[in-house]
Amino acid sequence: MWVAPVGYFITFEGVEGCGKTTQIRLLAELLTESGFSATLTREPGGCPIADQIRAILLDAENRAMTPMTELMLYAAARAQHVNDVIAPALADGGVVLCDRFCDATVAYQSFGRGLDRSTIDDLNRRACQGVFPDLTILIDCDPALGLERARSRIEACSGPREERFELEALAFHQRVRAGYRSLAESEPERFAMIDGAGTVADIAAAIQSAVLARIPEGLHAAC
Ligand SMILES: Nc1ncnc2c1ncn2[C@@H]1O[C@H](COP(=O)(O)OP(=O)(O)OP(=O)(O)O)[C@@H](O)[C@H]1O
Ligand SMILES: [Mg+2]
Repeated sequence: MWVAPVGYFITFEGVEGCGKTTQIRLLAELLTESGFSATLTREPGGCPIADQIRAILLDAENRAMTPMTELMLYAAARAQHVNDVIAPALADGGVVLCDRFCDATVAYQSFGRGLDRSTIDDLNRRACQGVFPDLTILIDCDPALGLERARSRIEACSGPREERFELEALAFHQRVRAGYRSLAESEPERFAMIDGAGTVADIAAAIQSAVLARIPEGLHAAC
C-alpha cells in the first residue's frame, strides 16, 4: 500500500566533481547530530537492484550505449530506488538526502544528450511515483574545475572506475551545467544554488543555512 510522504526530501545536484558527495555526507552528519532521522542515499543506485544498473551505467567500457538505453536504465533504477528506499523513509517521517535524482536526468539526458524533454519528464513522473524533492541543492561549478577534482578522486580510488561521464567532452558538461542553471531559474522556491568554487567549509556553511532555513520544525520534534 502506497503511503503519502510526510518526511522531507533533499536532493543534491551539480556537474561531475562539484562536491555533491563531500557535502551530502557533511549535511547527513549535521542533521543526525541535530536529532533528525536522516537517510543518505544516491543515484544511480541506492538499493541492490539499482546498484546493479549503476554498474552498467557508469562502466567506461559501455561506450556503445545509446542515449535512449541510458535514459531508460536511469528510469528503471529510479523506480526501484523510490520504491525500496526513498518512499518508505519519507513515509516514516524522516529526512531523505539523495546524491543526484530526477533533475540529473533532465540536465544530462535532455540538455547534455539532446533527448526529447517531454519523454524524460514522462519517465521521471512514472519512476518517481509521486515522490518529488522538497529542496534541491545545486552546487554550481565550472565543469573544468569539477572534472579536475573528479579525476584526482578517480585516480586515488581502488574500486571500479565509474568514469563513463567524466570521459565526455567539456562541451557536454557545459551543456549539463547550463541545464541545471535553467532548472534552478524555473523553480526558484525548490532550488538553492550554491557557489561550488569555494572551500569545502564555505560550501558546507552555505548549504547548512539554506537547509536549516527551510526544513520544517515539526519534523525535528517528531524524530
Ligand atoms: N570545495 C572543494 N574544494 C576542493 N576539493 C574539493 C571540494 N569539494 C570536494 N573536493 C574534492 O574533489 C573531489 C570530488 O568531490 P566529490 O566526490 O564530493 O564530487 P561529486 O560532485 O560527488 O563528484 P561526482 O559527480 O563525480 O560524484 C573529491 O576528491 C573531493 O575531496
Ligand atoms: Mg559523487
